[in-house]
Amino acid sequence: MRIQPARQLRGRVSNLPGDKSISHRAAIISALAFGQSRIANFSTSQDCISTLRCLDQLGVTIKWKGRDLLVQGVGSESRENPLPWLRASTQALDCGNSGSTMRMLAGVLAGQPFSSILTGDDSLQSRPMTRIIEPLERMGARLLSEQGRAPLRIEGRNPLASIRYEMPIASAQVKSAILLAGLCADGRTEVIEKLGPTRDHTERMLRWFGVDVVTKTGGRSIPGDDVGESRNGIEGGGTPSPSVVVQGPAQLRARDVIVPGDISSAAFLLAAASLLPGSHLEIAGVGLNATRAHIVETLVALGADIRAVNIREQCHEVIGDIEVRGTDMLASSVGGSEPHILRGPIIAGLIDELPILAVVGTQVKGGLRIGDAKELRVKESDRIRTTVENLRAMGADVEEYEDGLAVDGPVRLRGARLRAYGDHRIAMACAVAALIAEGESEIEGAECVGVSFPEFFQLLDSVTKR
Ligand code: S3P
Repeated sequence: MRIQPARQLRGRVSNLPGDKSISHRAAIISALAFGQSRIANFSTSQDCISTLRCLDQLGVTIKWKGRDLLVQGVGSESRENPLPWLRASTQALDCGNSGSTMRMLAGVLAGQPFSSILTGDDSLQSRPMTRIIEPLERMGARLLSEQGRAPLRIEGRNPLASIRYEMPIASAQVKSAILLAGLCADGRTEVIEKLGPTRDHTERMLRWFGVDVVTKTGGRSIPGDDVGESRNGIEGGGTPSPSVVVQGPAQLRARDVIVPGDISSAAFLLAAASLLPGSHLEIAGVGLNATRAHIVETLVALGADIRAVNIREQCHEVIGDIEVRGTDMLASSVGGSEPHILRGPIIAGLIDELPILAVVGTQVKGGLRIGDAKELRVKESDRIRTTVENLRAMGADVEEYEDGLAVDGPVRLRGARLRAYGDHRIAMACAVAALIAEGESEIEGAECVGVSFPEFFQLLDSVTKR
């Protein structure tokens, strides 16, 4: 993919594809419910197609009706015996590139009384799975693997034992796997987020499907729970860390879902528009769940001009419209020429946005430093390494650390030959860097954007002025 520098981004995006994280959950949770659910604005990502394919192999009937998805859940009508029974698959379930598919389905399959094999592409087979193997084995399932990597063989058990689990890493995928297993457990399953809250879409979606989920905020308020019905089940105070409790066995009732636009996809457009003076972009219907929307406040703290308006609630999630204008010069709200620092609990809420933030950092007075982000090393690529490589190729001054990186700013980036390393978010971060650079860039392997955002280049092109 060849990319020429751009002058501005201008226009209105009214068709942002559905959020990938929420779409995975909508598909999986509706599959476990009693009755038929209709899902609108389901993500077009290859990752979510992997989830649908696996669910189909497990005996769930899924059909497209126009642009909506109809999912016939396998849940039971009986309150006394509410457990969903999926059908064992004779073939391995291929999760493709999707860590969310593998980890969340592992949680579901742990509670089904048969064996399953979960596998994926080379990237997914190299990612750590011990983080789910350990808690799910404590619940009574057996998960066999070679050195904690996929393929995973899951020998499910029903009912599972309920557990109280302190997560040693901040991971929404791990939390979700345990909560989904907790639906098939006997009693109260609790996940403690001692490193701080991660995205809470699973909790919200389970509540939407009628499950009693209690979030304890641990004295701190969990952002985003200030909207209407989503207060349901929130208890204040008590424990020192936030935690989530689900009561099993749980019965789920089919519900219709409208998926908000994906803020992690919008992040690339917001960054590009912020970096090109004179830009003016409106993006409608973006998910603004506060455990996900830190990208907006972070860009604002870096000097961007972004406003969220028309904020409303939809299926227990928060959505709104975003307006962004390009500014002449980004400067951290910290001021001076010190780097802006991102570290600590906010990192979990920005985890997928860190590569694009590193690109933005090259244009900020004083630059940007990212720490406490070791998790980036075990994403679809080693995102610290792949971000550093690409920014250096464009002439940026970047330091690499075990748990993050530091970029100096502002610098004029030079067009260069860049590599996606099979990682969709790296490809899109490179594309934005190419728009603000001097001269043409070329991205090797850019087609992997389809993993999360197949429409990316077309959409970007439709709002780019050269
Ligand atoms: C996701 C959680 C994050 C994120 C991933 C999607 C989810 O991973 O990086 O893209 O949908 O729960 P971790 O929870 O492993 O940090």
